[in-house]
Amino acid sequence: MNLTESMYVRDAGKRSILRSASWEVRHRIMKRWRAFLLGLFFALAPFIAQGAEMGKFQYEDFKKPKQCKTCHKAIYQEWEQSLMSQSFTHHWDDVEYFKLALPHALKLDKVAEVKGGCIACHSPLAFLTGDIPPRPPEAGTRANESISCEICHSITGSTEKEPFNFSYTIKPGKVKFGPRKDGRSSFHGIEYSEFIKSPELCATCHNEQSPYGAWVKETYREWKSGPYAKEGAKCQDCHMYRAPGKVSRSGKLRSDVAHHAFHGAHFPNKIAGAVDIALYADVNQVSPGSDVNVRAELFNGKVGHYIPSGSSEERMLWLEMTAIDTKGKTYYLTLNKKGFKGEEYTVADGKAIAYQAMGEIMGVKEFGGVKRDGNIPDGVRVFRRPFFDPKGRMTICQWYTAENTIVDYRIGPRETKIENYSWHIPQDISAGPVKITAMLYYSLVPSSVGEFLQLMPSEYAPVEVNTAALNIEVVK
Ligand code: HEC
Ligand code: HEC
Ligand code: HEC
Ligand code: HEC
Ligand code: HEC
Repeated sequence: MNLTESMYVRDAGKRSILRSASWEVRHRIMKRWRAFLLGLFFALAPFIAQGAEMGKFQYEDFKKPKQCKTCHKAIYQEWEQSLMSQSFTHHWDDVEYFKLALPHALKLDKVAEVKGGCIACHSPLAFLTGDIPPRPPEAGTRANESISCEICHSITGSTEKEPFNFSYTIKPGKVKFGPRKDGRSSFHGIEYSEFIKSPELCATCHNEQSPYGAWVKETYREWKSGPYAKEGAKCQDCHMYRAPGKVSRSGKLRSDVAHHAFHGAHFPNKIAGAVDIALYADVNQVSPGSDVNVRAELFNGKVGHYIPSGSSEERMLWLEMTAIDTKGKTYYLTLNKKGFKGEEYTVADGKAIAYQAMGEIMGVKEFGGVKRDGNIPDGVRVFRRPFFDPKGRMTICQWYTAENTIVDYRIGPRETKIENYSWHIPQDISAGPVKITAMLYYSLVPSSVGEFLQLMPSEYAPVEVNTAALNIEVVK
């Protein structure tokens, strides 16, 4: 096995350093070193089945992105602005790994494997060189290169047919694996690769199973079982759009250069308009004391998978329905519940408390949890998929997820969700037109979690996805 080989090499290196030490000291250090390696091996064993490449390489085997920039300037700029270049350094990733996952891995055997597991997707370079845990971003090591050019363009395939948990195989070196058959470069070799053009490349990191066997990230699986896979629209088609230009400074003009934008949930422009909203009322005229029924239809016509997807343990999409009369008085419309299993998790409740695991891991005394839904208004519909830890508490720690199939109320690709509201027209309402408004918001992390972990406010600020409005007339 490859890992044993690399352990051997490193062991041999250590031996020569130790030559000058006394036998006794040497013996003790050797014993500790072996125990450490053995511990590391067992800690990583379940993940090794998928991540066969750990510790096989040196940092020097991979070129720095800045070197690629000299010829691939535009691609470099796109990559630099995307989350791919920040997957290790980005503040929230940094906090989650160093404040929660790593301490947890050192404390609880069952999740010990995430010590290297997180890094295999977020800083593959560190994983491949066995630099685990890497030093934090402030240290400025090469772990900070995150998902660099050399990672994707050295990946040769996966050990799995439907990849998950960083099951990529990789061959860094002179040859870059690319999508074209006619590319030529004097700087590096080029080999055509079907795999790099396939969604399975993305699946190596965009499908994830927790140590408890729960699918905690399944963007690829969602895509695969949806309409886009059947029509042949791939991840690359929506996240690496094409435009005319040059692939490289010295290359020829091409009509369809693959852009490395990777815009996703961190780009409000990608979220904006991702879901359509239509509003209907059963009557156009109302009087105080009567009732109006309003229907909101939400259509996911643009996202190739569920929305939210990816880190769904922490994502929320929610619909606020309000009515404003001519004097500017605002009323909230009441959601008609549907009665499905787990619906309580999909209706905002200011009294619901969750995420107790954070305090437990961080050793916060008498930590009871924080507000499950952050500061969103009570009673609104939340499109989300709750994750539960082994103690049955809702969690944002995906690696600590034992169960997440109780309810999944996100909006699937090309799915329409219908929500009904009833409104009893109050006596004090002003006569004249009343504007009923639907506002759909998205957030990356519940604000309560963001505040507790001291994330940057931009990380948990609500983003407007879409809005729709409808007027009805109040007659007295
Ligand atoms: C997350 C994986 C990933 C990363 C990171 C990445 N690439 Fe790519 N790259 C791809 C994929 C996938 C394609 C092919 C898309 C297609 O044609 O379907 C591609 C295509 C290319 C092409 C060929 C473009 C064309 O249209 O012929 C070049 C050149 C390239 N990448 C260079 C880079 C450089 C330089 C970097 C770093 C600044 C980089 N890539 C980072 C995945 C990646
Ligand atoms: C000295 C210039 C130069 C440098 C530096 C350079 N490349 Fe290239 N690269 C090229 C040229 C030229 C092409 C071909 C362009 C074309 O066919 O239009 C190319 C093409 C590619 C392709 C596309 C292969 C295909 O299928 O056509 C990939 C992927 C790629 N380079 C990756 C990299 C990576 C990763 C780095 C950094 C380690 C890098 N390149 C550095 C000049 C360079
Ligand atoms: C039909 C176009 C389309 C296809 C195909 C598609 N996506 Fe997306 N994706 C989107 C849009 C639009 C968004 C922004 C809305 C959102 O965040 O859900 C998005 C968002 C994302 C996000 C952020 C999700 C979140 O809520 O945090 C990830 C990650 C992602 N896509 C990865 C993928 C991968 C991997 C594939 C292939 C398995 C893929 N996408 C296929 C359109 C697409
Ligand atoms: C080596 C692992 C790896 C591979 C391969 C990979 N990704 Fe990702 N991707 C990540 C990680 C890690 C993040 C999260 C970055 C963060 O939030 O810090 C991410 C984030 C994203 C996002 C969300 C960005 C945002 O704005 O929220 C999109 C979209 C995405 N990837 C698309 C793709 C597509 C398309 C492919 C295949 C061509 C791909 N990824 C291949 C690891 C990978
Ligand atoms: C199989 C690959 C994989 C593993 C293992 C993995 N991640 Fe991720 N991670 C991703 C991808 C892909 C995304 C992007 C999903 C999205 O955009 O919604 C992501 C997103 C995140 C985010 C959210 C970033 C944001 O801005 O919302 C955090 C934080 C994070 N990961 C931390 C971790 C930690 C800590 C671990 C280890 C316990 C871990 N990840 C393990 C692939 C992985």
